[in-house]
Amino acid sequence: MCGIVGYIGTRAASGILIEGLKTLEYRGYDSAGVATISEGTLQRTRAKGKLINLQTKLEGLEDPARLGIGHTRWATHGKPEEHNAHPHTDESERLAVVQNGIIENYRELREELKEKGYTFCSDTDTEVIPHLIDEYLKNPAPEAVLSAQSALLEAVRQAVNRLRGAFALAIVSVDFPDELIVVRQQAPLAIGFGQGEFFCASDTPAIMPYTQAVLTLENGEIARLTPMGVEVYEFSGHRLKKYPRTLNWNPIMVEKQGFKHFMLKEIYEQPGVVRTCLETYLDTDWDVSSGESPIKLDLPDALLDGLQHVQILACGTSWHASLVGKYLLEQVAGIPTFVQYASEFRYAPAPLMPNTMTIGVTQSGETADTLAALEMEQNRRTEQGGDYAPRMLGITNRVDSSLGRLIPDVVGTMAGIEIGVAATKTFVAQLMAFYFLSLELAYRRKAISLERMAEIIEGLRQLPAQLEQVLEAQERYVEELSHDFSETQDFIFIGRGINYPIALEGALKLKEISYIHAEGYPAGEMKHGPIALLDEKVPVVAIATRGTVYEKVLSNAQEAKARDAQLIGVVPMNDAEAEETFDSLLPVPDVDELLSPMLTVIPVQLLSYHIAARRGLDVDQPRNLAKSVTVE
Ligand code: AGP
Repeated sequence: MCGIVGYIGTRAASGILIEGLKTLEYRGYDSAGVATISEGTLQRTRAKGKLINLQTKLEGLEDPARLGIGHTRWATHGKPEEHNAHPHTDESERLAVVQNGIIENYRELREELKEKGYTFCSDTDTEVIPHLIDEYLKNPAPEAVLSAQSALLEAVRQAVNRLRGAFALAIVSVDFPDELIVVRQQAPLAIGFGQGEFFCASDTPAIMPYTQAVLTLENGEIARLTPMGVEVYEFSGHRLKKYPRTLNWNPIMVEKQGFKHFMLKEIYEQPGVVRTCLETYLDTDWDVSSGESPIKLDLPDALLDGLQHVQILACGTSWHASLVGKYLLEQVAGIPTFVQYASEFRYAPAPLMPNTMTIGVTQSGETADTLAALEMEQNRRTEQGGDYAPRMLGITNRVDSSLGRLIPDVVGTMAGIEIGVAATKTFVAQLMAFYFLSLELAYRRKAISLERMAEIIEGLRQLPAQLEQVLEAQERYVEELSHDFSETQDFIFIGRGINYPIALEGALKLKEISYIHAEGYPAGEMKHGPIALLDEKVPVVAIATRGTVYEKVLSNAQEAKARDAQLIGVVPMNDAEAEETFDSLLPVPDVDELLSPMLTVIPVQLLSYHIAARRGLDVDQPRNLAKSVTVE
């Protein structure tokens, strides 16, 4: 959370910083600020709220500076007020710092600095950093190792060695007008290499319009960017040899392309995403008679063979995708599978099971809890060794992320950049990864016949057209239906089996973008308590597709109807029983039950989107949220 950018070079910094912050606003939008250095002065401008407020403040200001840093904030310590907005400075306002992350020992550092006479003017954890750097500039610790290179670099090095927590920093100073210092410790930071100009940012899309040569810092590294080049050091002061790599990126991906919101555009991109996944991971020439695996995941045998268990660690929507994954891994590949919230697992891991594959699922590849849980699991399994040795797999939309560096084997979900804070297309792409993985494991374990596999694959191939059909049929209807619910205060979503996670996902989507209270339940659990919530004011959305639990879910829906709840059914097309049961129908093609979540998720995404849009809310940047959750 929080986005940081920095620039040093020959162009006007301020415009580049603002453009970078626009790209990073998904990381937080409680406040924004920039600090630039020119002609011996530091110019700092900050504004509460979205970036547009900062842009308004900067309008008409001439700023010739060629060096600067910027920040967009998701508040952790201190309310989203201007005095808490980054950049933060030292007392003389000659040095400025932007930070992403949390400094866990900020209280003790603050006390120490106060005793030395420093005064604080924000409620943030960040403000200790400029004061600490200032202190080390004035009174360098005796063990200075980088002073010959730069006094600022050395002071930053000494300061970061005092910090505990997860942080990425960018630092500029009037007294060092040719230097931009950046730091990474458990929070992402990339450096872009241009011609005589260098960039830094929390995420590569902020750099990509200028250069595709990018170096991603590792934890415990500091870099000094000057117009002459980039030097990278460990926190110990040891110099490293590092080179940028070239990224592929297409700027068109971050345009709204005529859609009112990114979320709606991303919902409509789903058929294309599924096509890309099929083209990438499925052998198009596969013939059941070949006896070969149709899946092209290119994962090592040592990861996949002889598995007894799978455990999956994830958060939020990725956790919901993992629940679908559990169903597939158990029902298709026959492997007992456990899904854990990464934030819970990291402090209460289950006892080690042998021959277990651990899968980390994260759209961004940067979720702090997921990364920490995976790292912990990797370490404890490495210590144990033997049958308990780590077998780690990542499923992510950003293979160039921290997850990609932590775990050697990664399945990329190929969804393209997702801007809306509410995950949509990346969710269906994660489901696709689980279809491919469970089919590959089923093939290796001979868990299902090749004929059954061929059936599932044929079903997968039909999905892009079926997704288009659902989107086309429902867009207008769901928009109209949403009018009935713009004042509703509570919603219940129910589903069973492989569609229970879709009930959870429907409720999460509605909560996060419309601020309506919503709960997802396994339909059979309603009568054990939640049914007490129901009356005519609480609509119930039931995911009821044909398969093992169809009749059961219809009965559960009837039970809700008997309590006056308005019933909305995500149901098979042309189903007389469903037509009788529900007040409103959101029909989807009648497909193999295993594939149904790929289609049932569309109506619940559309419903949430249209209710939120109808309520006039900021669908792409809902309050209090950030796309990438890089703090605990
Ligand atoms: C999804 O709509 C949410 N914004 C959120 O729950 C998200 O899925 C969660 O923060 C996990 O993110 P990740 O997939 O990037 O790890």
